[in-house]
Parts: sequence; C-alpha cells; structure tokens
Amino acid sequence: MTTHTAVDVIRAKRDGARLTDAQIDWVVDAYTRGAVADEQMSALAMAIFLNGMDAAETAQWTRAMVDSGEKLSLDVGRPTVDKHSTGGVGDKITLPLAPLVAACGAAVPQLSGRGLGHTGGTLDKLESIPGWRAQLSVDEVMSQLRSVGAVICAATSGLAPADKKLYALRDVTATVEAIPLIASSIMSKKIAEGAEALVLDVKVGSGAFMKSLDQARALASALVSIGVDHGLKISALLTDMSVPLGRAVGNSVEVTESVEVLRGGGPADIIELTVALAKEMLSRAGISADPAAVLASGEAYETWARMIRAQGGDPDAPLPVGQHKHVVTATSDGYLTKLDAYAVGVAAWRLGAGRARKEDPVQPGAGILCLAKPGDKVTKDQPLLELYTETPDAIPAALESLTGGHEIGETPPTRTPLVIDTIRG
Ligand code: URA
Repeated sequence: MTTHTAVDVIRAKRDGARLTDAQIDWVVDAYTRGAVADEQMSALAMAIFLNGMDAAETAQWTRAMVDSGEKLSLDVGRPTVDKHSTGGVGDKITLPLAPLVAACGAAVPQLSGRGLGHTGGTLDKLESIPGWRAQLSVDEVMSQLRSVGAVICAATSGLAPADKKLYALRDVTATVEAIPLIASSIMSKKIAEGAEALVLDVKVGSGAFMKSLDQARALASALVSIGVDHGLKISALLTDMSVPLGRAVGNSVEVTESVEVLRGGGPADIIELTVALAKEMLSRAGISADPAAVLASGEAYETWARMIRAQGGDPDAPLPVGQHKHVVTATSDGYLTKLDAYAVGVAAWRLGAGRARKEDPVQPGAGILCLAKPGDKVTKDQPLLELYTETPDAIPAALESLTGGHEIGETPPTRTPLVIDTIRG
C-alpha cells in the first residue's frame, strides 16, 4: 500500500503532474478529517489554480468530496430534478421555477444557499416571508417532496463536508476562480443531494462569476462532464447576466416579483427564463408537460402557497419594504442603453440586501426596483431606479456604486438573447 503525504501531493501538482485517483481520495479524506492542515490544502488549491486538473482528475476530486459525507436517497414516487444557478443579480428564478416544475409532475429538491457579495441568496429572499423556515430535517424534506413536490431549504451540513471546509479556505486564499475547483464544488453538493436530473443555469456577464462567454462555456462543459461521469441526466443553459433579471433586486422585492410571475404576470425576462429552464428540467426528467400553460393557469401558484405553508410561512402576509426610499431619475430624453448588473447588485448589497461576512444579517426590505430596462424609451426626470433601505446612511455608497452603471442614448441598444446556448450531457 502506498503511503501518501500532503507534501508529495502538493509537489506533484506544483510540478504540473496529474494527481492519481489514490492521491486525490487520500488528500480530500485526510483534509476533511483534519489530518492535512489548512496551510497544506491552501498550497494544493493554489497549485491546482495555477496548473489545473483534467476532466478525469476533476471527476475523481468530485467523487472524493461526495464521499466525504452523506448522500440522500430521494425515493419519493416522482422523477426528481434540480436546478442550479451560478448566481446573478435579480436571479429569483428558483422561486417560481421549483413550484412550477412540481406542478408539472416532478419532485424538485432545491437545497439552496445564502448570498455573499453582490449576488443574492435564495434563502435570504424566502426568509423575508414571515414564519418561513430554511432549516429542515432530511425526513421533513422527503415528506414535503412527497406531499407538495417542491422544497427549497438549506443544505444539511452532512452533505459534502469536504467542500464546505475547502470553499471557506478558497475564499480567503484567492483560489475561488479555478474552473476544476468551482465545478467540483458545485457538483459535489448536487450529486450528494441525490436528484436524478440536473439543469444548470451558467450565467455570463458583468453580474456573474464568469465575465466572458469562453469562461462560462468552459465552466458549463466541466459541470456537464462531471454530471455525466456520475450518471446524472444533465444540461447547462448559458444565460445572459449583463443586465439584472426582472425589475426587482433584493430580498422581499424579489419574492413579490416571483409571486407576480406565479400569478400569471411579471416581467417578460423572468417568465422566459423560468419557462426555458422548466422545459429543460421536465425533458431531462422524462415528463411531457407545457410549463408555459401551467404557469399561466395559476396551478404553480397553488403549489408555491403549499410549499411556503409547509415550511411555516404565510404566503398571504405583507412583506417588509425598506422605510427609506431614494429615486434615481433620467438626466435626458432617449433610450436606456445600459443597466449594468454588477453596479445594481453592489448597490443593493450596500443598501443592506446582502452581507459582507457570512454571519451578518440582511435587511429583508432593502433593495432596488429597476423601473426602466435597456431598450425602454425614457424622458428627462423620469424615475429609473427606486432604492429602499432601513439605513439611510447607506444611500450615498449605493449611489456611488451606481455611477456609470446606466446610460441613456439616442438609439435603442441591440438586444442580446437571454438564453445564449444549451449544452446537453
Ligand atoms: N458555488 C459553489 O458552490 N462553489 C464554488 O466554488 C463557486 C460557486
């Protein structure tokens, strides 16, 4: 039997070698147990960042992270299908999507996270609903999947604990942005969660992790390849994140907008992306249904209300809105030619919708309403953005991050498609 040491594994990757399956299994397991120190894993993460891992190494690294914890077995009497977004601004799609796909006949286990930085977190949004509970036991998840068909809740700490430890380390060692590490991190949690099919929404543009189409395509291919290796029915949609999705960016404001969509209204881009992802999820789950018709019929809203009630929330309760409001107006007549997702995301975050450290609270009522979107005709002094917060001192910093984030021109901008491409495994 070969005896491994952390120094040998680090040296191999530092010198550009492929790691063997045995080295990967050993180092991930030893790190999870505390036998490999944080400083050694930091060095290895940096070596991987600089020298990469090929598809087979990445698949093995993912397998080792899945094996570091428990794996759910979702036997709930319906095909199971999940969706994962790489994160964006105004990206509330999970909220209408999970009940919609459940109303079409699938079971949707959506284990979600909180926001960090300028991108929002699904759990933070839902926690603006009075009484709603994010922490569920595995038994509660299974029972809700059987009775309602959809559950959105926090991931249990037993899923992929190696990733939990490694992600925190990458965050403080400038090693987050490595495609093999991002792809194995995302997929280890999804594989451990146990759904049979998965649709990924890989965002590209200023408000996304991946700023260029080439990077996003490389990440999507890495994610799909890991999924195929693990026997998942998997697809990735590459979607635009240069402009905020919908009109609402924040927590309660995004829930309100999602409910509008579930009631048959809401912004066209939210409806388009929700239906596109639902179609792909249903096709991967082997269900033939027309999600656009189900959305328009109000059935998805009924599933939403049952899903919220099952987790202690009141779907009819009024939602909090920040007490202090500031309006940004148009400085000239013309067309809105630019509304930068990153600028709006950072502004909403500064108003209190997001957090700087994991343990910080968020303001449920803080956020931004985008009253005009690129392509809209605007007139001088017309309100463009409404900023909401409980902490008026935050408004100047939010306005500073919006500087240069929107532009008005004489001709309408050319539209980029929302769904840029689809990669199927
Ligand atoms: N999301 C994850 O879960 N992991 C990463 O590494 C990046 C984004």
